[in-house]
Amino acid sequence: MYILQVAALCATFSSLASAHGYLKYIEHAGKRYEAWQVGSDEYLTTVPTRYARRIKDMGPVADFTTKDITCNQGGNLPATGIIDVKAGDKVTLIWDQWGSSHSGPVMNYLAKCSPDCSTFKGDTGNVWVKIDQVSYDKSKATPWGSDCLAKNGAKWTVTIPPTIANGEYLLRHEILGLHVAGTRMGAQFYPSCTQIRVTGGGSENPTGIALPGSYNPDDKEGILTELWRIQQGQINYTAPGGPVWKGSVPNTMQC
Ligand SMILES: *[C@@H]1O[C@H](CO)[C@@H](O)[C@H](O)[C@H]1NC(C)=O
Repeated sequence: MYILQVAALCATFSSLASAHGYLKYIEHAGKRYEAWQVGSDEYLTTVPTRYARRIKDMGPVADFTTKDITCNQGGNLPATGIIDVKAGDKVTLIWDQWGSSHSGPVMNYLAKCSPDCSTFKGDTGNVWVKIDQVSYDKSKATPWGSDCLAKNGAKWTVTIPPTIANGEYLLRHEILGLHVAGTRMGAQFYPSCTQIRVTGGGSENPTGIALPGSYNPDDKEGILTELWRIQQGQINYTAPGGPVWKGSVPNTMQC
């Protein structure tokens, strides 16, 4: 017991000091759904229904060129729950916390689970469609997406594209922390995969990007870059993963 308490205490301090975080809840239509509860679910013999795939800890993905980048470092195991949503609905992703020292873009993708989310991993092929992104806009009071998320109480709201085809999807929500991105492989990706079932959609089945595969350690515009030089206007910034799909609804969060 004592050892567990010390471990919990250390985890608390390190999370405060380093401002890491993880997806804790998902909200949709006034209902709150639990994601994998890092730091407690791993000790349960029977884990209650969870709607996002297991995440190992609060840290970033250690090697973003591996399959750990797909749904984080938890084995990419199917979650037991799936959230029913209508195309065009808003979904809110809620973190345990997010500090302002880890600035960078926030990106959201959908991958259609084929044949369904009970077996789909999404770690091969161009399956990840970017549906939402807030990167860097120096004209805003809060220029970075991640700082916008922090300012909004560690929450992010994304709209499921109205014309996307019905079916089961992984909603991959991700923060990219750039505070040590000047070192090769220093960029800190914090992805999560929530399972949703979309109804009321259209006929669109867009092509996306591959994860792993599309995040290049030598991408000087988005990954191997320096936060302070971007903020001083010395270099421009382009988030990795390509542009947002044209069928997406622009983000409406106030920053
Ligand atoms: C950044 O992009 C803008 C717009 O395309 C351009 O005018 C500017 O020269 C670029 N700045 C740098 C440092 O490359």
